[in-house]
Amino acid sequence: MAGMQIDPSGLDPRDAYRLMISVIVPRPIAWVSTVSPDGATNAAPFSYFQALGGKPPMVMIAVGDRRTGEHKDTRRNIEATGEFVINMVGEREGPAMVKTSIDHPYGVSEFDEAGLTALPSELIKAPRIGGCGVSLECKLDRVLEIAGSGICIGEVVLFHVEDALLDENGVVDPLRLNPLGRLGGSGYATLRETISIDSTGATQTTWSAKLDLWRELRERSIAMVNALSVEQLAAGSGRIFLELAGQEGEWDSSWSADRLASELAGQHAPQDDLHARIRAEAWYQGQAALIHRDDFPGADLWRA
Ligand SMILES: Cc1cc2nc3c(=O)[nH]c(=O)nc-3n(C[C@H](O)[C@H](O)[C@H](O)COP(=O)(O)O)c2cc1C
Repeated sequence: MAGMQIDPSGLDPRDAYRLMISVIVPRPIAWVSTVSPDGATNAAPFSYFQALGGKPPMVMIAVGDRRTGEHKDTRRNIEATGEFVINMVGEREGPAMVKTSIDHPYGVSEFDEAGLTALPSELIKAPRIGGCGVSLECKLDRVLEIAGSGICIGEVVLFHVEDALLDENGVVDPLRLNPLGRLGGSGYATLRETISIDSTGATQTTWSAKLDLWRELRERSIAMVNALSVEQLAAGSGRIFLELAGQEGEWDSSWSADRLASELAGQHAPQDDLHARIRAEAWYQGQAALIHRDDFPGADLWRA
């Protein structure tokens, strides 16, 4: 296999950075909220972010300095207060998250600039970011100075997890969380499909679907078997099973109708004579509901 070798010692640091962020992908994003000693809230994303251990749970973010050589506000606040919150970024939070990556003068709150809601934390003063399904309250363990960055290592002292994200085993279902992964430049990966690989190497795919889909279903008057309204369903969580030429996919609330439409038109390629059968199950406050409709042309439903 032909390839090239790149000696980083000969690279301009900016090119080394570009290479790093294009090969180490996708990176999870810590949306870090902090507060200054005089009470100004701050939020910024960091994709040099990792879990370090479980006993106790430890995490790290690498905060580079600004071009001026000053520390970023996040690092200043973390060092001054010893506290920070890591909020996980779902696809829905992407645009607001990117807004908070703009450098504002110290003391200007990204919460205000990006229209974020500050929710109180339980054990620390730094606020959580409203709307994020997962937030980790962290206390600073130490800051290491490595490669021009302050590696802020923190202990997670409290996990906040939205109920709707939990699966039946009490852990977070990645498809429901649908975290953004950072790629190079302005690119992000979404999580719309997972595969499980068992010890024999057999794989199984799980897909997800979005609340928009519930609206799509309502607009197209798909019969509901019980009395729950689609508004109620949309406030809950659900799964949709699509049977297309014998394929059954499992979808949850993170797919857009558009994405699903293109997926159906492409990957699952409904033929003119193909009729899809859809069965959607949803849960609202513990009640099960069934929406179903048999024998509609897949193309009609999704492309119209
Ligand atoms: C998705 C994303 C990931 C980022 N990751 C990092 C990172 O790992 N380290 C870093 O120093 N800056 C990173 N940045 C840039 C900071 O978010 C940016 O410098 C921000 O203005 C810092 O804000 P602050 O001064 O309020 O701390 C990232 C930006 C984006 C959009």
